Amino acid sequence: MIVVTGAAGQLGTDVINELEKRNIPHIGIDIADVDITDEAKIRNYLMEINDKFDVQAVIHCAAYTAVDKAEDEPELCYKVNVVGTENIVMICQDIGAEMIYISTDYVFDGKGDVPYEVDSTKEPMSVYGKSKLVGEEVVIKSLEKYYIVRISWVFGNTGNNFVKTMLKLSETKDEINVVADQIGSPTYTIDLAKLLCDIVLSEKYGVYHATNEGYCSWAEFATEIMRVSNASARCKINPITTEEFPTKAVRPKNSRLSKSSLNIAGFKRLPTWQDALERMIKSSATIET
Ligand SMILES: NC(=O)c1ccc[n+]([C@@H]2O[C@H](COP(=O)([O-])OP(=O)(O)OC[C@H]3O[C@@H](n4cnc5c(N)ncnc54)[C@H](OP(=O)(O)O)[C@@H]3O)[C@@H](O)[C@H]2O)c1
Repeated sequence: MIVVTGAAGQLGTDVINELEKRNIPHIGIDIADVDITDEAKIRNYLMEINDKFDVQAVIHCAAYTAVDKAEDEPELCYKVNVVGTENIVMICQDIGAEMIYISTDYVFDGKGDVPYEVDSTKEPMSVYGKSKLVGEEVVIKSLEKYYIVRISWVFGNTGNNFVKTMLKLSETKDEINVVADQIGSPTYTIDLAKLLCDIVLSEKYGVYHATNEGYCSWAEFATEIMRVSNASARCKINPITTEEFPTKAVRPKNSRLSKSSLNIAGFKRLPTWQDALERMIKSSATIET
C-alpha cells in the first residue's frame, strides 16, 4: 500500500491518478482527512491504515506552498513543512516504510547560471526554501530508505499555477509583464507523477532532480503559453526584470536543476517543457482557470 499525502493538491492529485492507472494499491490523504502537524492524530490515522493494509511507502506531497505568505507566517510554514514532515518520517521509521519527499529548487540560492547538482551547496533565500531544506534534513537524518525529489515551477490541471494564471489574464489583458531574468524548468504534474511511481517501485534510494527537459525564463514560458493557446495575437508578453516585479520572498534567478542523477540511476527523463505544456493545454480545451 502506498500512502500519498497532499492528495488533493496539484501534484498529489496526479500521483493518485497514476497509481490508479497502474493498479497500485494506494490511499490519498489531505488536510480534510487529517492534519499532518497533529502528531497524535496523524500517527493514529496512518497506524490504522498500516494495520489494515501494510504501508510500504509514503509519497509526501503535502506542504505549505504559499511562498510569499510564508515570509509573514514562518511559524506555520515550518510547522507544516518541518514538523509535519517529521511526524510522517517518524511513522515511516516505526513501520519500516520508505518515503518520497518532494522538495524544491528553492533550497538553492539561485546564483550563477550553472545547473545545480543534487549535492550542490544548499543556501535557501526564503522562509519556504529554508523550511523545505530542513524537511529534507529530517528525512535524511531519520530514514535509510528515502528518495528526495526536487522539482520546480509546477503546473498541472488541479489548483492554481502559472499556466492557469497566464491563460486567465490573457482573457482580459492585451499585455502582461513577465519576469525574464529567472531561469528554470517547468514541471508537468502528469509527467512527474509517472516518474514518481517509477521511483517508488525502484528501491534506488537517493536524491533526484526531476523537471521537464529544457530551461526557460518565466517570460519565455508565458510567450509559449500564449502561442499554444492561440492568444499571441491578442495578448503580448513584455519581458521585465525581477527588480521590476518585487515579491515578498526572494526567488532564485537560477533554478536550473541538473538531471544527471536520473541518468545515473537509469530513470527516463521527462519530455521537454514545451511538449508538456502543449499536452496540458490541448488535453483540456476548457481548463478551469
Ligand atoms: N508548486 C510548485 O511550483 C512547487 C515547486 C517546487 C516544489 N514543490 C513541492 O511539491 C509538493 C507538491 O506541491 P503542490 O504544488 O502540489 O502543492 P499544493 O497544491 O499546495 O498541495 C499541497 C497539499 O497539501 C495540503 N496540506 C497543507 N497543509 C497540510 C497539513 N497541515 N496537513 C495535511 N495536508 C496539508 C494542502 O491543503 P490546502 O490546500 O488546504 O492547504 C494541499 O492539498 C510540495 O512538497 C511542494 O513544496 C512545489
